[in-house]
Amino acid sequence: MKIVPMTRAIGADIYGADVRNKDDVKAIKDAFAQYSVISVRDQSLSPEEHIDFAEAIGQININRFFTPLDTHPNIAIVLKEADQQGAIGEEWHTDHSYDQEPALGSILSAIEMPQVGGDTAFSSMAAAYDGLSDKFKDILDGLEAWHGTEHVFVNSPAAKKARAEGRLSANPNIEPDVKHPLIIKHPLSGRKCIYVNPQFTVGIDGMAKGESDAILNGIYKHCVRPEFQCRVRWKEGDLTMWDNRATWHKAINDYHGHRRYMHRITIEGCALEAA
Ligand code: SIN
Repeated sequence: MKIVPMTRAIGADIYGADVRNKDDVKAIKDAFAQYSVISVRDQSLSPEEHIDFAEAIGQININRFFTPLDTHPNIAIVLKEADQQGAIGEEWHTDHSYDQEPALGSILSAIEMPQVGGDTAFSSMAAAYDGLSDKFKDILDGLEAWHGTEHVFVNSPAAKKARAEGRLSANPNIEPDVKHPLIIKHPLSGRKCIYVNPQFTVGIDGMAKGESDAILNGIYKHCVRPEFQCRVRWKEGDLTMWDNRATWHKAINDYHGHRRYMHRITIEGCALEAA
């Protein structure tokens, strides 16, 4: 097995591994803890094999907004057809920050990919935290932020379109927003990570909208600096797993006219503690 870091901040490619092999799974878990994003190349998993690997990582969390695979309800479909415009997850985000106990990670399997394009970009929220000035860290210390889904999966024009296309589940519930510390202590590494994101965070607790927007927009601009990022350039059969508490990600929607079809499984996490 060969593990090749993608950038200084985040991500590793793993070659010559097989996620069906228990010994390899141990090394893959170690690499995941170290790099936060791992791309295990050339796996071509069946849905059952994808589920087996996910269960070796943790308990599966069934996503309640995405359309599931008919035959395997614990696998969510991430699909953009050649004639569709919007891609699922094209805004920077972290999966399930809207849950009381946000998902540990997600495992995405590439079934059908465009020849070129359709990469996924990731950004390290630990590196982004480390890159803040001490003065701004002091401002963020002790703050909490609200996260929600209504503006993303229920009311947005993009959600209405994706629902009409069958790419999001038909009757999403309106759920109460949840609150998390804005700077968390990462449950595995103990590193301080920024835990707000442009898609699901709706505001900072106790602040007026203008105040909250000013701080959040400052954070968001900082978090997308290229030195915190890596980019997965997919091939069919690849499997990428990322840590949702330590990263943001974004599907790059640059392949209009081509089909991109993926299977995603999300793994249960835990309540998040302030750093
Ligand atoms: C997601 O946001 O989970 C999907 C990412 C992707 O399609 O690249």
